[in-house]
Amino acid sequence: MLGVCYYPEHWPEAWWEEDARRMAALGLTYVRIAEFAWSRIEPDPGRFEWDWLDRAIETLGKAGLKVVMCTPTATPPKWLIDLYPEILPVDPETGRTRGFGSRRHTDFSSPVWHREAMRISTAVAERYGENPYVAGWQTDNELCCHNTAISASPAAHAGFRTWCREQYGDIASLNKAWGNVFWSMEYRNFDEIEMPVGAVTETSPAHRMAWRRYSSDMVVRFHADMIAIIRAHSPGRWVTHNFIPMPETGVDNHALAADLDFAAYDNYPLGRADLALAKSSPADFAPLMRTGHPDFQGILFDQTRGLTGRPFWVMEQQPGPVNWANHNPRPAPGMVRLWSWEAFAHGAAVVSFFRWRQAPYAQEQMHAGLLRPDCTHAEAWPEVEQLHAELARIELPAPTKAPVAIVVDHESDWLGQIEQQGRGYDYQKILTAWYGATRRLGLDVDFVAPGADLSGYAMVLVPALALPTPEAAARLQAADGLVLIGPRSGAKTHDVTIPDGLAPGRLRPLVPIRVLAVETLRPDCPGSITIGNASFSSGLWRETIEPGECTVLGRYEDGAPAMVRHGKVHYLATLVEDAALDAVVAAMAAEAGLETTPLTGMLRIRRRGNLTFAINYGAEPAEAPAPEGAEFVLGARTVGPRDLSIWRSV
Ligand code: GAL
Repeated sequence: MLGVCYYPEHWPEAWWEEDARRMAALGLTYVRIAEFAWSRIEPDPGRFEWDWLDRAIETLGKAGLKVVMCTPTATPPKWLIDLYPEILPVDPETGRTRGFGSRRHTDFSSPVWHREAMRISTAVAERYGENPYVAGWQTDNELCCHNTAISASPAAHAGFRTWCREQYGDIASLNKAWGNVFWSMEYRNFDEIEMPVGAVTETSPAHRMAWRRYSSDMVVRFHADMIAIIRAHSPGRWVTHNFIPMPETGVDNHALAADLDFAAYDNYPLGRADLALAKSSPADFAPLMRTGHPDFQGILFDQTRGLTGRPFWVMEQQPGPVNWANHNPRPAPGMVRLWSWEAFAHGAAVVSFFRWRQAPYAQEQMHAGLLRPDCTHAEAWPEVEQLHAELARIELPAPTKAPVAIVVDHESDWLGQIEQQGRGYDYQKILTAWYGATRRLGLDVDFVAPGADLSGYAMVLVPALALPTPEAAARLQAADGLVLIGPRSGAKTHDVTIPDGLAPGRLRPLVPIRVLAVETLRPDCPGSITIGNASFSSGLWRETIEPGECTVLGRYEDGAPAMVRHGKVHYLATLVEDAALDAVVAAMAAEAGLETTPLTGMLRIRRRGNLTFAINYGAEPAEAPAPEGAEFVLGARTVGPRDLSIWRSV
């Protein structure tokens, strides 16, 4: 099903009915509204104006559309900030208060903000919780977008001290856990604890990890309280949230999604590609400029699905140029339809476009919509028409469990930022590289949290699990399939110290090695690893290991062990180039009895139930790797440029 994001408050009321009629005629089912409408809902403190929103919902509902209602907490109005300036967050880098005039100018630690956010959420939920046209809810909007998880406000400082007291009990325990004897950083009581900001040089990694955990907990608590309010007033409706790319929330996303019915994602492939590939060469970037990278959407779709294990939504789909990347090209013809189909292939239930009509004013006036500001069709319109017609005749089966699980771990990501050790170390790049290796083999992937049940997976990949909990280690040990663990796993204890007996600490029962030393090399001065007869580059992270009773599968250029195996568990002690990952994952997949489909270039495949999708991001036609006599339900064996084919397995 399809949907759209609509802002009735941006347009004359006289347009609403025609807009609703055209939405329904286009085949849209859902319309998301009101996430930024606080100043129109409550124009003065305690004075609510509901009539306009009542009429907007009724107009949309009477046209046959289902309304996705939002809490408007991403944009608190000016009067609220003037009444309670302590709601504003403080930038941890500069120490400056982040002011009013855009959005997300709030501090998750502020008790006043928490109270006011829950007050407006209660008001909206009471008013519309049982409205017959409201199908479900979106909480807030893109929590922590614009780097807002962390604030260095007085409220955050006080909250952090309380949180530390709850976590550590007494100050001696905290001092010991953080290693505060080093550089005379010891505290005498919890009231002396600083935020890890503004110091002369780096603060202790344990201090910073605690700060990240505290900041994450504040966002999770805020979200859980909001969801509880909606549920209390809106029985029988679902609640979701539109996530930004998971690494950018700065939050434990699995905890953030825990109380949702399903997760949603906002998909902006070209803006993301422009930012993520800003340093790539023109020759590498040009082919992706109008399509995005063929693995960058899938990895986020799969992670979004993994947050709840249920079909997800794309709440906002880019329909044309955006306004916020370094450069904002138009999508290649066909890409809006293709990205949408790709989301369905990865288990989406709904794709909703952002936005219905381009705004002629304010910050996003250069951001495309399905309509231009003058109400004429913008470029994506015919693609949405085509998509709707195709969806109407293809029944999408329920998504099935993938054969491969990748353990995704936000704390490994945080550790990589807190203690990078080598400029090239980037957890997200490592995760993407490991995911890419599976996708180039045509393998489907589920992302799971550390500590999730791993039974039933033929293969489990752990790109990094730096601070494993006992539960996460036990789950890995209990995995049914072959396991591949990457470098830096088990490197630290909960409080970011080197484990007793050295790394991999808690993972030693799985891989009985000892990490004796770590080096990181410049990307242009790598060493190598030889696995079997093939050599690959190794440099951004290299561990010297004592292999114990493990079998050595790979060696560095000096003959020292670089990859080992113990039973079903493989340990790769270094970061390697993609070709090495391709070879390792292919060999493991063969041993696990998984059927692989090596894919080159811009073609990817994904299965959903008994349907297989071949998605071609390329400018040239590609051959679908469909079996002889396959029954195509969309397209054909030759997949056109920026097009897809779908076949049914028998
Ligand atoms: C999203 C956001 C929308 C809009 C859009 C523009 O991140 O949720 O409100 O700003 O980006 O691309």
